[in-house]
Amino acid sequence: MHVSCCAGKGIEKGFETGSPVTFIWSGLTGHIDPSSGRVIDISYIVVDVIIMKIAIIGGTGSIGKGFALRWGQKHHIIVGSRKQEKAKAKAAEYTGILNDLGYNADITGDINIKAASEADVVLLAIRYGQVASTIEQIMPGLAGKIVISVVVPMEKDRCIIVPDGVPLEIPTNDREDYKADYFCYVTPPAGSAAQEIAAMLPAGTELVSAFHNVPAGKLSNPDIELNYDIGVCGNSMHSKNIVFDLVRDIPGMRPLDIGPLETSSMVESITPLLVNVAIRNHMKDVGIKFID
Ligand SMILES: NC(=O)c1ccc[n+]([C@@H]2O[C@H](COP(=O)([O-])OP(=O)(O)OC[C@H]3O[C@@H](n4cnc5c(N)ncnc54)[C@H](OP(=O)(O)O)[C@@H]3O)[C@@H](O)[C@H]2O)c1
Repeated sequence: MHVSCCAGKGIEKGFETGSPVTFIWSGLTGHIDPSSGRVIDISYIVVDVIIMKIAIIGGTGSIGKGFALRWGQKHHIIVGSRKQEKAKAKAAEYTGILNDLGYNADITGDINIKAASEADVVLLAIRYGQVASTIEQIMPGLAGKIVISVVVPMEKDRCIIVPDGVPLEIPTNDREDYKADYFCYVTPPAGSAAQEIAAMLPAGTELVSAFHNVPAGKLSNPDIELNYDIGVCGNSMHSKNIVFDLVRDIPGMRPLDIGPLETSSMVESITPLLVNVAIRNHMKDVGIKFID
């Protein structure tokens, strides 16, 4: 026997009876009574959807675009830039991409300081060498916020293994172009980019270090399904839990707790390894997945 329910309210499909069926749709829950075929026990359920305002500082760049297109499917994104026109143009571009995919995206653009000031969470998507000057500029907008660093200090053909260490020269005699083919982690004086950034932030602002090992190429193509583990480092479980949820908001990403900020160098330094694996072995957009 076929029953249908809620005609005219969006559910038009019939249900086979014979055994109890539970359905949940658009905030409604209920059961189909197998004997009568009628819908019983209809009630509303509370769906826990938290929409956050996320500012992406440098949101016009490679990895920033990826976060805007992934989180923009659910959250309000503010694309940050040094130039307002550029921020607005990129916000319009990202909105168009998500609208074409059927999402009612809420993406705006503004200069970095305004983006940070309006947001609940601020993601730093700028290069290591630009961090200090940018944080100085956006400092008033960061107080009391959760700041996420994806920053990886790495350089081509130059390795600094210990903080304040002497750059390691690697002799490469077999090919002239050999040196141009590898990247190394360049250990910052504080031990990691995250520790350095944390020391710059205003009191009450919590830094979480995450997403370093995600390649922008795949992140910024919403047609591509992801399958990555995301190492998360930080000293506050409260802000880490919020970032774990932001990781889970991107399908195919699994958050893994790595430890306090002091462990961030381990995660940051995986990125040049992944880049070397990719460029030296003809692979593309390499990421990490832990197995147990
Ligand atoms: N690309 C990846 O696959 C990847 C993966 C993991 C982590 N990361 C990390 O993510 C961060 C961003 O990487 P990315 O590849 O996205 O960088 P990017 O595209 O080269 O630059 C990002 C943005 O930085 C801004 N910018 C440029 N020069 C600046 C300056 N002097 N001062 C302040 N802002 C400046 C630009 O925005 P405006 O011109 O609009 O201001 C630019 O769009 C890096 O720390 C990187 O290590 C990248």
